[in-house]
Amino acid sequence: MKKYIVFCFCLFCFVLIFNSCQNSFLKKWQLPEHFGQQFSIPKDNPMNKDAVFLGKMLFFDVRLSADNTISCATCHQPQKSFSDNNKIAIGINQQINERNSMSLVNLLWNQNFFWDGRSPSLEHQSLHPLTNPKEMGMNINDLEKKLQNISTYPPLFKKAFATSKINIDLIAKALAQFERTLISANSRYDKIVRGEVKPTLREKKAIQLFFTHPIAEINLRGANCGDCHGSHLTTLQTFHNNGLDKEPKDTGLEKITKKSTDRGKMKAPSLRNIALTAPYMHDGRFQNLEQVLDHYNEHIQSSNSLDILINEATNIPEGKTLSLTKEEKQDIILFLNMLTDSTFIQNPAFQNPFLQKK
Ligand code: HEC
Ligand code: HEC
Repeated sequence: MKKYIVFCFCLFCFVLIFNSCQNSFLKKWQLPEHFGQQFSIPKDNPMNKDAVFLGKMLFFDVRLSADNTISCATCHQPQKSFSDNNKIAIGINQQINERNSMSLVNLLWNQNFFWDGRSPSLEHQSLHPLTNPKEMGMNINDLEKKLQNISTYPPLFKKAFATSKINIDLIAKALAQFERTLISANSRYDKIVRGEVKPTLREKKAIQLFFTHPIAEINLRGANCGDCHGSHLTTLQTFHNNGLDKEPKDTGLEKITKKSTDRGKMKAPSLRNIALTAPYMHDGRFQNLEQVLDHYNEHIQSSNSLDILINEATNIPEGKTLSLTKEEKQDIILFLNMLTDSTFIQNPAFQNPFLQKK
């Protein structure tokens, strides 16, 4: 009986200490309040700083690819808000993939991943690029063996997960933990939201235009971007056909749901640091933000699955297009530039550990 009580007591203390370590990690992490609490961390992959560090090593290590040339960071570079400047992603042996590399930012608040949202978690997502023959081209068994035989890794896994036996599950968990720390919340827009700086009149107008759905009849002008790129995160994580093509080559969400009403629908991505991540859209078709604004304002292509929020948005009574003025288009671009966070891209915690001085 006594032994049992001592055991229970020890277990209780362990849980208490473990939880307080967790909490202190989260506190030190300083999550931005204005992003809200709509996120969840998988119970079987709680954050810990050793796993985050391991995840960073793995993220930047080219040895995770079949020919030792490509790491996650080849396509997701810190100075480009974890994207690259290629139209379409390029994997091992210079193979061209299908889509534009996505920027990795504030993923903690995301619930579905990829342009078509086909992956439900970060732990699940990384298996795609690791094993895709056109991306990193690894076989899972080979990857586990390869890392087991690189002398730096078993001790790092031991520290992070209390075992030096490396498996794909733990690789994915560590990568996911590092990715959850990629938080960008220090742009000029954030400083305005937190009341640290005052917006200029033009900035105020730009913010309002971005988030307002126009009602021409009462002369309420708006660019309706916030209908899909809404909240301070600039994404509502919803799927839409934003009128790029009459007949989309890449059918997006339809591939997953098999519904023709989902044709050409993609995730409305976060626009954080968007000025750093050209070219734009899932196929990298637009080289700059001016072209993006021209698209939404003048070149929307009609189809059955075109989003109603876009189809009926206009600033002139009975108008067929968004009909922003030249100046208003510039205002929206000003707003998009306000989402650039230089402290995020320069954060030492996110840089290539293989290049950093010890
Ligand atoms: C060859 C370039 C390339 C490599 C290497 C690569 N990615 Fe990606 N990444 C992409 C592309 C392209 C997409 C979008 C693919 C799609 O939608 O089908 C993407 C999407 C993602 C997303 C989804 C983001 C979102 O907002 O939905 C995450 C997360 C991600 N990659 C993480 C990783 C990790 C972790 C690794 C390393 C294990 C990695 N990537 C390696 C090109 C790459
Ligand atoms: C109906 C929803 C919707 C509205 C309204 C909308 N977008 Fe988008 N946006 C999307 C979707 C979906 C994508 C991805 C489309 C794709 O690549 O196929 C996207 C992509 C983008 C991209 C490219 C992102 C990247 O990483 O390449 C930019 C920039 C952008 N939108 C800006 C805007 C601006 C500015 C407005 C307002 C003028 C706006 N959007 C209005 C849904 C919307």
